[in-house]
Amino acid sequence: MKKDFMWGVATSSFQIEGSNDIDGKIRSIWDEFCDTPEKIKNSDHAKIACDHYNKFSDDFNFLDELGVNCYRFSISWPRIVKEDLKTKNQKGLDFYHRMINNLLDRGIEPFLTLNHWDIPQIFLEKGGWTNRDCIKYFLEYSDIVSREFGDIINYWITHNEPWVISNCGYKDGIHAPGEKSVYDSLKVNHHLLVSHGQAVPIIRSNSKDSEVGIVLNLTPGMPASSSSEDQKATLLFNQFFNDWFLDPLYGKKYPDEVAQDWISNGLIPGIDFINDNDYDIISTPTDFLGINYYSRAIIRSDSISESDNLPIEIVAGEKTDFDWEVYPDGLENLLIDVHRRYSPKSIYITENGCAYDYPIESDGDILDTKRVEYLESHIQACRNAVDKGVPLNGYMHWSLMDNFEWAEGYCKKFGLIGIDFETLKRTPKKSFWKYKEIINS
Ligand code: FCB
Repeated sequence: MKKDFMWGVATSSFQIEGSNDIDGKIRSIWDEFCDTPEKIKNSDHAKIACDHYNKFSDDFNFLDELGVNCYRFSISWPRIVKEDLKTKNQKGLDFYHRMINNLLDRGIEPFLTLNHWDIPQIFLEKGGWTNRDCIKYFLEYSDIVSREFGDIINYWITHNEPWVISNCGYKDGIHAPGEKSVYDSLKVNHHLLVSHGQAVPIIRSNSKDSEVGIVLNLTPGMPASSSSEDQKATLLFNQFFNDWFLDPLYGKKYPDEVAQDWISNGLIPGIDFINDNDYDIISTPTDFLGINYYSRAIIRSDSISESDNLPIEIVAGEKTDFDWEVYPDGLENLLIDVHRRYSPKSIYITENGCAYDYPIESDGDILDTKRVEYLESHIQACRNAVDKGVPLNGYMHWSLMDNFEWAEGYCKKFGLIGIDFETLKRTPKKSFWKYKEIINS
């Protein structure tokens, strides 16, 4: 890979920081969700999480040890503003100054994400992402942060995974704020994309010569069989999951077949929330696309019974603790496909990783061999894509350490470093040392 290739790890504020009610932080929708019974597995909460708020410098010693040259993190919007969503909270900003300076002193390039889901509760009470008028609050926040850090941050990400925000939060109700409406989830998607397009020039004007982009979770769907039903279902899945975001970001309109499918099934009255200029705003050119890749989806149409639809021509491989299939070829093919269809100037893998729970051995090691295999095979997939001409400029593993995995609480472990959530002791796993070896070679 190129010499200046970005090797990193990724985290997000709510999942690691803890200290959720100090230094003027206002309440986040995830504080609220954690306090609502039965929303989070084992009633876990993130009041302490990894205590990264207090331990960030120790955690960054591990970045030095790994030898990464970049670190992806997110800013907690509720730390940055007061209840009016306009006045800045200097104590919150000061925390991120300390953190970012600590990274810069180590020669590590920070990749800053503005919205990794923990948004202010008051923003939601004003209507949140379903209310177009609320976009202005996100722009206000983007302006505050990019003014404050514009001269020291070179890489900006507006939103992390709009699909997850809208589908898990507004359609399936399994993430904050726990709503269940297909129509609202589509409005949320749209407003996230419009707010992204409007934030890009604000960030650029406050942070000259920086790179700005968005992060999408992309999951290629593949038909379980060659039946026309499965082919059709796969087309609809890919439009819903991937193209619904990629198409408008890269100058097209929302894909039509899936929209017609929702309308004809009575799920939505129509796509009636698009204003005249919206497609131009959404497709504001960016400097890079961030891709989060975990797995593929094997799609089987539910319009024919399984017994009439055999054999399944695709055999799924090994699965992680999240039940996500380990499928590195999907990453190589996805990178090639996105490059061919949309030609982003530059691509970063902004998340890639796997959930596996391994015990601490008697000698203190954590031998997470399956994570080692996952890491090696997915980095090989990146190499293959680079060899085939994909402008891939970085790889960031999810995650630096075990953390609060949203509705799953602490039971899904994605870290290169294990955390004992009683004592907060950190233990680098076998995969940590393997990643170090890969980076150094
Ligand atoms: C992604 C999220 C990240 C983490 C991983 C496992 O969807 O961006 O915060 O939860 O999944």
